[in-house]
Amino acid sequence: MAILKPSSRTKPTSKPRSPIFLITLTISLITIIYLSSTLISNNGSNPLEKTRKFTSSHLNNNNEKFLYWGNRIDCPGKHCDTCAGLGHQESSLRCALEEAIFLQRTFVMPSRMCINPIHNNKGILHHSENVTSEEMWAASSCAMDSLYDLDLISSKVPVVLDNSKTWFRAMSTGMKLGSRGVAHVEGVSRVDLKERSQYSKILLINRTASPLSWFMECKDRNNRSSVLLPHSFLPSMAAKKLRDAAQKIMALLGDYDAIHVRRGDILNTRKDRFGVARTLHPHLDRDTRPQFILCRIAKWVPQGRMLFIASNERTPNFFSPLSTRYKLAYSSNYSSILDPVVENNYQLFMIERLILAGAETYIKTYKESETDLSLTDDRKKNTKVWQVPVYTKEGC
Ligand SMILES: *[C@@H]1O[C@H](CO)[C@@H](O)[C@H](O)[C@H]1NC(C)=O
Ligand SMILES: *[C@@H]1O[C@H](CO)[C@@H](O)[C@H](O)[C@H]1NC(C)=O
Ligand SMILES: *[C@@H]1O[C@H](CO)[C@@H](O)[C@H](O)[C@H]1NC(C)=O
Ligand SMILES: *[C@@H]1O[C@H](CO)[C@@H](O)[C@H](O)[C@H]1NC(C)=O
Repeated sequence: MAILKPSSRTKPTSKPRSPIFLITLTISLITIIYLSSTLISNNGSNPLEKTRKFTSSHLNNNNEKFLYWGNRIDCPGKHCDTCAGLGHQESSLRCALEEAIFLQRTFVMPSRMCINPIHNNKGILHHSENVTSEEMWAASSCAMDSLYDLDLISSKVPVVLDNSKTWFRAMSTGMKLGSRGVAHVEGVSRVDLKERSQYSKILLINRTASPLSWFMECKDRNNRSSVLLPHSFLPSMAAKKLRDAAQKIMALLGDYDAIHVRRGDILNTRKDRFGVARTLHPHLDRDTRPQFILCRIAKWVPQGRMLFIASNERTPNFFSPLSTRYKLAYSSNYSSILDPVVENNYQLFMIERLILAGAETYIKTYKESETDLSLTDDRKKNTKVWQVPVYTKEGC
């Protein structure tokens, strides 16, 4: 512990002691006494809380006020079992964290995140030959701190888990204070919560969303100035063991480029009243096939490069045609690093995202911002217009 270092200078020396030395000694002693009393008072609590005591935002617990959004993180407007995965759940969570930043409150984080079983397929890591007998990971939820580094998040916006001592203490204080301690604020705007004194002074703001879904997405996403956290925030807050695994794989990949190829469930079609299959992304199935990928990325990825492919495509060897131009690598190449760490698909996806983000050139499935390179020109968000899929393309 760096803070204990000055005490090593208390070894007897023959030199006369300067006043500065004595001041340093006094400060170190006070620090040591303070630290040990904190440790003793915390004995038996979970180790995460213990370390979090030392972050500046948690030294001053007396003024800490809380924002609670419910006990599970669903998709915006949907329960977990109909949610399309981690990225969607993160958009809810990011919205909640932004509200906590805006209100300068500690966010009460659900201690577990639900996992939609449809997206928790072990075959993604172990390229199994038999697609119908894919093994599933059993988990229907996972611990929040197995996905995210809560200390790292707290350095930007303080968070506590809803199974932590801090939160239990806050709830009992809130209960004692009655209506001065807890406010239930369904539907009250963020600005009112900040500015109206009946809310701003309250210990706990309980913004439990509708019973249909606990979490929601921030409206007003198009107003740039109201967005306080970038999309990349939560992906970069991965738990340490996930970051370490990504680092190891990146070191083995060396200098590499990467593509994220989303196929699977998003290729779903539905029949219109004439029996014609229609889809929300008419060019996606075509644009994510190897021959079209080769053509599209040739101008961005030179021949011979190492290309890391993250995909939910299940057909074995689906991307092999890309090996005519590139050295290919998948997560499945690194199962000796991943197997000891990864227990579910959300953790695997967190690691893959770090690897994708670390590539020299990264090509996404959809273009999400002006500077993105993408495999398709179809828009990511389309919930209304169902079109007939297109499989042909002229030129490259
Ligand atoms: C694939 O899975 C099916 C259904 O579980 C099983 O009947 C079949 O024997 C498996 N095939 C191989 C090659 O393992
Ligand atoms: C928050 O509100 C919900 C719904 O009204 C309630 O079930 C829950 O117990 C409340 N939690 C706290 C900590 O006040
Ligand atoms: C955008 O958000 C900011 C900050 O929340 C607000 O002051 C502004 O009025 C909003 N602009 C529009 C056009 O809604
Ligand atoms: C990854 O595994 C595939 C076979 O699944 C192999 O063709 C490829 O060369 C491997 N890539 C690396 C970088 O080891």
